[in-house]
Amino acid sequence: MQDFDTVNQAFSKQSDYFDDYDYQNPILVYMREQVHQHVLKFLPQKANYLELNAGTGLDVCFFASQRPESTFHATDLSDGMIQKLQKKVVSLSLDKQISVQQCSFLELDKVENKQFNYVFSDFGGLNCAKDLKEVATKLIPLLADGAYLTWVIMPPICPWELITALKFRFSYAFRRLKLGGTMAHLEGNYFKTYYFTPSQVEKALGNNFKKIALEGLGAIIPPPEREDFAKAKPIFFEKLKKWDEKVRYSFPFNTWADHFIITLQYQK
Ligand SMILES: C[S@@+](CC[C@H](N)C(=O)[O-])C[C@H]1O[C@@H](n2cnc3c(N)ncnc32)[C@H](O)[C@@H]1O
Repeated sequence: MQDFDTVNQAFSKQSDYFDDYDYQNPILVYMREQVHQHVLKFLPQKANYLELNAGTGLDVCFFASQRPESTFHATDLSDGMIQKLQKKVVSLSLDKQISVQQCSFLELDKVENKQFNYVFSDFGGLNCAKDLKEVATKLIPLLADGAYLTWVIMPPICPWELITALKFRFSYAFRRLKLGGTMAHLEGNYFKTYYFTPSQVEKALGNNFKKIALEGLGAIIPPPEREDFAKAKPIFFEKLKKWDEKVRYSFPFNTWADHFIITLQYQK
């Protein structure tokens, strides 16, 4: 069971600088654009969209601006994230389109709308869940027939992290491979995180979901914490982006990466 209080405290502290860090990190900017392009391929013009672990609302506000005929429901566990999200929605005058609810993805039975046709989760929020089946059990009753689900998840194998073993950074290099989860340290708080393969996501969701797209996020480009690299070597970073674009849809690059983006469709 997730320690809600610790996770809430950690992400609430992070919410104070979350957007500023995101905007100034060229790797994160690029990765978020890739996620947005992926989602826009499947997001209906008239979507009824649910977001899990929405953070400060960077994604939901973007999608609302792209789909003015759609309605959006953004959820997150953390006090700080929810406050920033509510403020952003109001300041962008999106409050008629976007509703906000403080709710864990382990308690989705608290969400009242039962006809979502798109469910989104970005940047590893679901890596805080020990068992994705628990999320799926409460999510499925909220879905309309034919609903799409796009989840952005951190897998156990990230080549950029593994190669740091050559510099003897063994605990970082192999952190994702620890059995029983890895202790994350965020803002002085410790909590467990878990890494999942695309097959584990499919298994947790069950037979009523069909995988329709899978791509690696940060397959060739370095992970966001290597922003120093992208800033110091911009020309090389541009080259890596080009290679990344070519290979991210094929195995192993669609699975061995910083994150992967998986989209599945639900049939009742
Ligand atoms: C890395 S942030 C990503 C935020 C957002 N998806 C984005 O891409 O900007 C992870 C988010 O997961 C949220 N989170 C962690 N555990 C959660 C839970 N059990 N239920 C809902 N949200 C949770 C955190 O509060 C945090 O906002």
